[in-house]
This record gives sequence, C-alpha cells and structure tokens, in this order.
Amino acid sequence: MRRKLIAGNWKMNGSQAANAVLLQGIKDGLGNAACAVAVCVPAPYFAQCQSALAGSAVGWGAQDLSVHEAGAYTGEVSAAMLLDFGCAYAIVGHSERRTYHGESNELVAQKTVRALKSGLTPIVCVGESLAERESGNTAAVVGAQVDAVLAALSGDELGNIVIAYEPVWAIGTGKTATPEMAQEVHAMLRARLAAKNPAAAERVQILYGGSMKPDNAKELLAMPDIDGGLIGGASLKAADFLAIVAAA
Ligand code: PGA
Repeated sequence: MRRKLIAGNWKMNGSQAANAVLLQGIKDGLGNAACAVAVCVPAPYFAQCQSALAGSAVGWGAQDLSVHEAGAYTGEVSAAMLLDFGCAYAIVGHSERRTYHGESNELVAQKTVRALKSGLTPIVCVGESLAERESGNTAAVVGAQVDAVLAALSGDELGNIVIAYEPVWAIGTGKTATPEMAQEVHAMLRARLAAKNPAAAERVQILYGGSMKPDNAKELLAMPDIDGGLIGGASLKAADFLAIVAAA
C-alpha cells in the first residue's frame, strides 16, 4: 500500500504573522495522521517553517527551484538553498509556472533531475487545459508532459518522484474533476511509469490537485490510483487542510 501524501501549496500567500497561526494550527490539530503531510511555501518563509516545524511530522518544501546549480541567475533559488533550510520537497512544473513563466516540458524535466540529484523530492505537476480536455487531448497532453520527465530519469530515479495531476481548469475554480475522471488519468500516468519500471511505478505517489476540499477529498482519495492531494486554496486554513488530512 502506498502511503498517502497531503501537500499544501500556499502559492504567493502568507505573512510571518499569518503563517505562524496557520503552522501552529496544523501542528496542534495533526494528531497521529496516517498520511504524510507537507506545506510548500514561498521562499522567504523557509526559515520560519524550519523553526516552526522542527520536530513535528509536517514536512515543508518549495514551489519551484532553479534548474542551475549556483551563480549569476538573479532572482533564482537553488536546490542547495532549499536544502540549507531543511526543505524536503520542491513542486516542479506547476501550471502557473508553465503558463506565466513559459516553462516547457523539457525545462520541467531538467528541474526534476536537479531536484532529485540534490536529494529533494520533486512534486512534478501535469495537467490539461479546458480546451485540451474538450478536444479529447487530455491523454496526449498529460502523456507528453510526463514522458518528457521520464525520458530524463533512470528507471531507479523515477521511483523517487511524486506526480501531481492537476487539471488546469480545476485549479482555483471550484470545479473538481470527478473521482472517475481523475482516476482515469492517474491510471494512465501509472501505466506510463510502469512501462519504464513496473516496481517503481507501484511506489510513486500520484496526487490529485484542483479544488480539492474537505467535502470532496474523501471520494477522490478513495480511488485506487489517487495517492494524496496537492491543495491550494484549502491549504490556507488549518481546519480545511486538517479535514483533508483526516480524509486521507
Ligand atoms: P487549488 O490549487 O486547490 O486552489 O485549486 C491547487 C494547486 O494549484 O496546486
């Protein structure tokens, strides 16, 4: 059985004061969660998470990382810097980065490799737009996104990634894929992984993201290939985030 992972994606939200309340709320309410729990936070708050979450069961991560190791890359944050603050995860290829920063499948693949080689767990995001779904291209688009990443990894390495299927039309819109729609894509993704390394494919956590909330988490998380969630809006309130953790 794969252990589930519930990861918050705070996006560009937060302040030291608000984060302190949120992190304390998550820690206080967590209890003995059966699943793994993490928050992916804006870079200025790595140090705050490191101290607030030390010794707790809540891991933390970044929302992106530089493809480069170090040097003259103004504004970028390296894998080594994330590790310096105890980050465990890095989201890679979120649709907002693909859309607003022009990140290609190839760049996402290179960032995945950078994260893995540095000892971070990449949470690799894939997902189709509404137009792509309506024109029947979901499998082709999502398949190409994941294939680019798989092409850059060895069979062993692929067992160390996390994938997040996030249909773009469901992100922040309140529209969620039905459990059956999500399961279909998750099963397709796992089959692609299995073609390269069947044993590793059984281990990889494939998260669903896109308006996952307390009231729809349980049925999504009950599907056989949905191994957790990447939670945006609902990760900003401790009660909502904890309700999703409880559902997992
Ligand atoms: P949402 O965001 O839960 O607010 O839809 C999910 C994400 O973009 O990771």
